[in-house]
Amino acid sequence: MTDIDAEIIDGNAVASEIRDDLTDAIETLADAGARPGLATVLMGDDPASETYVNMKQRDCEEVGIESYHVDVDGDAPAEELYDEIATLNEDDDVHGYIVQAPVPDHVDYREVIRRVDPAKDVDGFHPENVGRLVAGDARFRPCTPHGVQKLLEAAGVETEGADVTIVGRSDIVGKPLANLLIQKADDGNATVTVCHSRTEDLAEKTRSADVVVAAAGAPELVDGSMIGEGAVVIDVGVNRVDADNEKGYELVGDVEFESAAEKASAITPVPGGVGPMTRAMLLYNTVKAASLQEGVDVELP
Ligand code: GUN
Repeated sequence: MTDIDAEIIDGNAVASEIRDDLTDAIETLADAGARPGLATVLMGDDPASETYVNMKQRDCEEVGIESYHVDVDGDAPAEELYDEIATLNEDDDVHGYIVQAPVPDHVDYREVIRRVDPAKDVDGFHPENVGRLVAGDARFRPCTPHGVQKLLEAAGVETEGADVTIVGRSDIVGKPLANLLIQKADDGNATVTVCHSRTEDLAEKTRSADVVVAAAGAPELVDGSMIGEGAVVIDVGVNRVDADNEKGYELVGDVEFESAAEKASAITPVPGGVGPMTRAMLLYNTVKAASLQEGVDVELP
């Protein structure tokens, strides 16, 4: 028996609203002769990455962003990837691009990121963009943390004064989200605890939080016993686990949904929570990049 009273936060619905607003901005750009362009770069043939990249291209098509794709052989030397990056940096039709992670072991992702023109770094991973974010002057907010902020806002969750516990300290989610949520801003002003694999008594730190963000990349790490009554639970995890179905796998989050939903006041599902928001915010950053590069002001959602 389960007893779920929690509001299920619908990431698909919120992402769809953002995409609608972006479509207006894209029309404004198009009227000024500036069609936004996003490129994806995939080195190797990781199946999950191929799926993500395909979805990103479909998203672009839906809102009127031109999409480009570059494949690099997984066995190629890093220089081949660097050459593609240099070409994209020079291509005026490409306002933003991402190099899908993970890259093969013989390629240093940090070096890859350093080579991306910061003005086109729609992931927000380049050290210049990380620095700007930490300084409270973000150019591109990384897509997943930004998506989490937008979801919280849409669900009517006040971050001001809230105790937020983030489980996971990744460069892509945990660290930037912590930095965004502590900023003196309407969608910040939280008191943030960042937990990781060496944290002692994780459950105590999640249980005392008003908002728990699970972003550790560990299937169902956070269960209901670790959630305080009435807390808001945001599940960033997307883990493929073996399953007895056609695909041979299923997607589960970092949260054990059933037990956590019994305690939470609101919770995101997997899939259909943070995932669609990440994709929407990539479109957002692409529109912002085009707006900045083309010198055309647009209203962003
Ligand atoms: N791999 C998993 N998440 C991401 C992301 O947000 N950006 C890129 N470039 N690669 C990823």
